[in-house]
Amino acid sequence: MTDVPAAIVHLARSARRVTVLTGAGMSAESGVPTFRDPDVGLWSQYDPMQFATPQGWESDKPMVNAWFLSRVAIVQGTEPNPGHLALAQWGRRPGVDLRIVTQNVDDLHERAGAQVAAHLHGSLFAFRCDRCHRDGPIPPVPAQLAQRLAPTACERCGRGHLRPDIVMFGEVLPSAAVQAAFEACSEADLVLVVGTSGIVYPAAQLPYLAQANGIPVVEIDPNRTAFSAAADHVWRSTAALGLPALVSALDG
Ligand code: OAD
Repeated sequence: MTDVPAAIVHLARSARRVTVLTGAGMSAESGVPTFRDPDVGLWSQYDPMQFATPQGWESDKPMVNAWFLSRVAIVQGTEPNPGHLALAQWGRRPGVDLRIVTQNVDDLHERAGAQVAAHLHGSLFAFRCDRCHRDGPIPPVPAQLAQRLAPTACERCGRGHLRPDIVMFGEVLPSAAVQAAFEACSEADLVLVVGTSGIVYPAAQLPYLAQANGIPVVEIDPNRTAFSAAADHVWRSTAALGLPALVSALDG
């Protein structure tokens, strides 16, 4: 069993309102690639300007659509890891108000049985038209993924194409999610930051907002992040090892 630092156990046991900010590292042990980890991160293989901007989408929809659908297929082929399950279990404890604020566009928190207070960067499992912005069905994911796939035409307006309702660089975050995230980081007794490099704003601002409200912030990440130096406590563990150990320690 992983040893949880005593100060973190103490904070977790005494917290009634817990906010957990999660990033790509949360799902890494499920097999969903992160963005910036050396060699394996998506941005070491794909240019974010081509694959994650509205301009990139407009300039080559079949290429970007094929990439989106490959990411849908990857996530569909994974399962929640013990970290996702531990957070769901913590949220079911009597008297605990646990809010998950995630930058992840996967659905692994939900499949673990947790509710997500805010999907700051949207979801791979909600599609919308790039012209009229209305919802559309998730296109079927082909068994054989290709380099390029024609995007599905929008049946509602007949002018646009369906794209996942995820936030691309340069786009505005969904306002309801931002509001829920800011509330969750202003009202908690404890904020945990799990598996995010802490460099993409405005999400990266949330731990500092919590601290400005007097809330202790604990980082759980195997590597140093942009937030590490400011964190009240840092635990070099992983999501799938650290979170189950922490939740087990709540009853000790
Ligand atoms: P990054 O890829 O930038 O950072 C991943 C973090 O997870 C790093 O700090 C790793 O050390 C950590 N990590 C790796 N394996 C881990 C594990 N098993 N357990 C815990 N932590 C682990 O991902 P994000 O910070 O989430 O935006 O990236 C933020 C945003 O940048 C993403 O939401 C995405 C991307 O561009 C959009 O797509 C809009």
